[in-house]
Amino acid sequence: VPALNKLAQAAGLKYFGTATDNPELPNAEYSQYLFGYAPQLFGQVTPANSQKWDATEPEQNVFNYTGGDAIIQPALNHSMIARCHNLNWYNQNPEWLTSGTWDNATLISILQNHIANVVGHYKGQCYAWDVVNEALNDNGTYRSDLWYDTIGPAFIPIAFQAAAAADPNAKLYYNDYNIESPGAKSTAAQQLVSSLKAQGIRIDGVGLQSHFIGGETPTLDSQVANMQAFTALGVEVAVTELDVRVSTPATDAEIAQQATDYATTAQACVNVEGCVGLTVWDFDDQYSWVPGTFPGYGAADLFDANFTAKPAVASIAQVF
Ligand code: XIL
Repeated sequence: VPALNKLAQAAGLKYFGTATDNPELPNAEYSQYLFGYAPQLFGQVTPANSQKWDATEPEQNVFNYTGGDAIIQPALNHSMIARCHNLNWYNQNPEWLTSGTWDNATLISILQNHIANVVGHYKGQCYAWDVVNEALNDNGTYRSDLWYDTIGPAFIPIAFQAAAAADPNAKLYYNDYNIESPGAKSTAAQQLVSSLKAQGIRIDGVGLQSHFIGGETPTLDSQVANMQAFTALGVEVAVTELDVRVSTPATDAEIAQQATDYATTAQACVNVEGCVGLTVWDFDDQYSWVPGTFPGYGAADLFDANFTAKPAVASIAQVF
């Protein structure tokens, strides 16, 4: 197995990493690839689910860090860094939160209390936090959700301010999809960065999720230009959730195209000063979220369902 993380670091990045999830950890072969080969293969981990609000505050003001700790602790023990994910989202919120009717002041204090507790628990352990996740629509307007509909756009600076107060050393990120190439949504994310900075609110990075479709990923030039548009504002960028899905059953041609597509995004990050690293959204097809979310698509990850490296592993290594 190529030492993707070591190669990425030699190419100037801080890390090459992966998402993971708690149900997979008991699989010994999976754990060997995730932790056993660290930090050669992967140097960074993101919990795919267990730091989300429904997991960390399942009842109001009752916090549970069991699942998150089960990922972050072994990662740190294996000299990996952690991207922590996420503090504010429209999705995967607990029933008590989504079914309540909250006035503005109460919902703000719920948000601040959640962030103070969760970021406080992981203080010193997270290289970065995805503070706000997916707050924008594709046309660049704010998403209508429980946060925006009650608090208005102020929920975003409030969330970043609370995170900054709870961990001065974690990089604070805005994370979203469909902001990987120039367009209305990417422009809106850039305006969000500028507006936070103008208000004196700390934001350190923007996460480009990069859930791509094989053969339809943005060109190298457009990914580079897009990353540079963010870094020009004084934030770093990271590819935070990279996968490249293809229609199933996958053909050899689709898997070859996928290798090219993975390499293009890796190359974009290498080319941009201020792109700190890439994270794949899990690495083995048996644990990919894609088939469950995009019917008819799959085979999106770097390894097939039996931990055999697909061509994308070599094509990424080649870029580094
Ligand atoms: C996904 C997880 O991978 C799934 O297991 C879960 O069922 C749904 O969420 N954008 C994000 C991630 O920011 O948190 C999502 O993760 C994928 C899309």
